[in-house]
Amino acid sequence: MLGDLVENTLVEQIPDSSIIHRDLADEPLPHLDATAIAGFFSSPDALHDTLKAAIAQSDELVEELLAADILILTVPMYNFAVPSALKAWIDHVVRIGRTFSYDGQSFAGLLQGKKAYVVCAYGATGYGVGEPFGAANFVEPYLRFVLTFLGITQTEFFSVEATSAPEDARAPFVEKARETILQALRGAQPA
Ligand SMILES: Cc1cc2nc3c(=O)[nH]c(=O)nc-3n(C[C@H](O)[C@H](O)[C@H](O)COP(=O)(O)O)c2cc1C
Repeated sequence: MLGDLVENTLVEQIPDSSIIHRDLADEPLPHLDATAIAGFFSSPDALHDTLKAAIAQSDELVEELLAADILILTVPMYNFAVPSALKAWIDHVVRIGRTFSYDGQSFAGLLQGKKAYVVCAYGATGYGVGEPFGAANFVEPYLRFVLTFLGITQTEFFSVEATSAPEDARAPFVEKARETILQALRGAQPA
């Protein structure tokens, strides 16, 4: 719901947007296997049909991401980390020579000039920096690092906590998240 709010608020401001939705829970991506990994690390002229087929899905996801100005991720915490469905997507799009480069000494992100909005949902509370469960939050710091690694440095993270609490306890958290999102996105422009 908060992800939709981010999307709809951005679309109001950028009405000619074209949007690709990927529901990674309803249509899960396969985990990487050895053939796909071999394809990732093969030079284009060494890609025979089996390797090409193994990386076709990844190629599509990478092209999608390269073409995008804005990435919106909506992410529930599962066991203190991102759901494996999202991790599978990350494994398909973090591609040497496509979305990051390595020259033998240093890495560089190849996704320049893009913005990312990330909405994280936590069933419990206390996952902020310095809070009781802050050290158990492997969602936000991980995503921040991965996005930066790929070159996406313009990021905004929103969070909602207590989503597993009863409605009356949850409602103020949801309302606060809604307000934060609306306030932050007013006047947002494409990258
Ligand atoms: C398998 C599973 C694991 C979860 N693990 C955690 C967790 O470690 N910490 C937490 O605060 N909430 C956890 N939750 C609660 C979800 O993060 C929370 O319900 C979230 O709002 C779900 O996203 P949704 O509202 O978009 O469905 C878990 C939920 C599920 C289904």
